[in-house]
Amino acid sequence: MSFPEGFVWGAATAAFQIEGATTADGRTASIWDTFCKTPGAVVGGDTGDPAADHYYRVDEDVQLMVDLGLHAYRFSTAWPRIRPDAGPVNQAGLDFYSRLVDKLLENNVTPWLTLYHWDLPQTLEDAGGWANRDTAYRFAEYAESVVGALGDRVTNWTTLNEPWCSSLLSYAAGIHAPGRQEPEAAVAAVHHLLLAHGLATAAIREQTPAAKIGITLNMYPIIPADPDDPADLDAARRLDGLQNRIFLDPLFKGEYPADIVADLEPYGFSKHIRENDLEIISAPLDQLGVNYYAEHFVSGTPAAESDAPVQTNGRRPTGSPWVGAEHVTFPSRGLPRTDMDWEVEPNGLYKVLKRVHEDYPSIPLYVTENGAAYRDAVDEDGAINDVERRDYIDSHLRAAHAAIREGVDLRGYFAWSLMDNFEWAEGYAKRFGIVHVDYETQVRTPKMSAMWYSQVARGNALAA
Ligand code: NOJ
Repeated sequence: MSFPEGFVWGAATAAFQIEGATTADGRTASIWDTFCKTPGAVVGGDTGDPAADHYYRVDEDVQLMVDLGLHAYRFSTAWPRIRPDAGPVNQAGLDFYSRLVDKLLENNVTPWLTLYHWDLPQTLEDAGGWANRDTAYRFAEYAESVVGALGDRVTNWTTLNEPWCSSLLSYAAGIHAPGRQEPEAAVAAVHHLLLAHGLATAAIREQTPAAKIGITLNMYPIIPADPDDPADLDAARRLDGLQNRIFLDPLFKGEYPADIVADLEPYGFSKHIRENDLEIISAPLDQLGVNYYAEHFVSGTPAAESDAPVQTNGRRPTGSPWVGAEHVTFPSRGLPRTDMDWEVEPNGLYKVLKRVHEDYPSIPLYVTENGAAYRDAVDEDGAINDVERRDYIDSHLRAAHAAIREGVDLRGYFAWSLMDNFEWAEGYAKRFGIVHVDYETQVRTPKMSAMWYSQVARGNALAA
C-alpha cells in the first residue's frame, strides 16, 4: 500500500509539552504555568518542568528524528519565550528556535512551525485572554516577530493548533487553562482566535510570500446514536456545529454557520463580529491540518448513563464545552478505548478527510496529529513493545490511504507524538510518544511503534 510520491512522514510535539525550562532565558509565565499551580487542575499536580527537558536536549532530539528517518518535524514556538509578558521581543527566546530550525535543516528534516499551541502569556490572560479582542492583535505582533526571524528558513506555518480547545474547552469547560467556566467568554474566544489566525496569516504573507500557511483543527465525525431520532439528529447538528463547522465555515466560506450563530446568540456571539472580520479570517490558505483521534457518538436524549468524551477523571467539577448544547450525551458503543478512554475508530479519519474534501473548496490536507496513549510497559531488557499503538497508527494510516484512493488530496501524516510528554490536564501519566521518555533520567528509547513507523516512512508504504 504505497502512499503518493513526496508524501510527508513526520512527528509532532508542542512547546509546553516537551521543553521544560519554563523560566530560562527570559521566558515568563503562560496560562499553563499558572493553571498547573491550581490545586486539582492537573492530574498529579504535574507542571511544565522539566517535561522532556527538550530545551536542553534539542541536539539529541533532532538526532532521534534523523535516526527514525522522519521527513518533517512539527513543533510550536512558545509565545512567552519570544514576547515575554506579551512585551517586546526577547532575542534569547527566538535564538532557541533559530538553532532548532538550523539543526533540522542541516539534517534534512523540514520544520513545520505552529505559532500557537495553547501557551498564552499570563499577562494577556490577566487582560481578559482570548475573550479580549485585543489578544488577536497581540498575536499578530508575535507572529510577525517569529516570521521576521525564521521566515527565511521556515516554509510551513500553522497559525493555531485546535482552536476548539483554546476556546470552548478552556473558557467554557474550564478543563484546560485558563480554567474559566464562562460560556460568554468562550464564544468570544472562538471569534478572537479566528481573527488572530487571519491577522497572523496576513503578517506571514506580507513578509514571506512563498510561505505555506495553514491552521490545524481537531475534527470529529459526529454520529447520531439513532439516525431516526430527531433529538439525536439535533444533538449531532449542534455538536458538528460547535466542533467542526464553527471553524471550517468562516475559514473556507467566509461566514459562520447560521444555525450555530442562532444557538449561540444567548451567549452574545454575534456582537463580537465586526465589519471585515470575516474577510480577514477567510484569507486564502495553502493547506489545512487535521488532528484526528476519535468520533463523537451523540444522543439528544438525557441518559442516566453517558460517557463524556472529555474525561475529568473525578477531578474538580467542570463545565461543559458544548455551549448551547449542554444537554447532549455521549453513549458508549462498546468500542475499544485508549488510555485516554477515547474510542478507537480508524474509519472516522477516513470520514473527516472525505468530509472536508467534499464540503469545502479543495485544499491540500495534512494529518498534523494522530496517535494514542497506552500504558506502556518497559521490558526487563528496556524494550517497549507497544503493539496497541503500532496497531492504532497502522489502522489509521489504512483509513487515510482509503481516502487518498478516493481522490482526497492528503499530503502528509504526523504522528502524535514524537515522544512522551505533558498531556495537559492529564499530566505525565498519559504517554502518547512513539519514543519513550524516562522522566527520572530523561533517557529516550524508541518504542516498537517508532521502529515500525520508521520503516513505513522509509518505504513510503504499509505492508498490504
Ligand atoms: C491534541 C493536542 O494538539 C496535543 O497537544 C495533545 O497532546 C493531543 N491532542 C493528545 O491529546
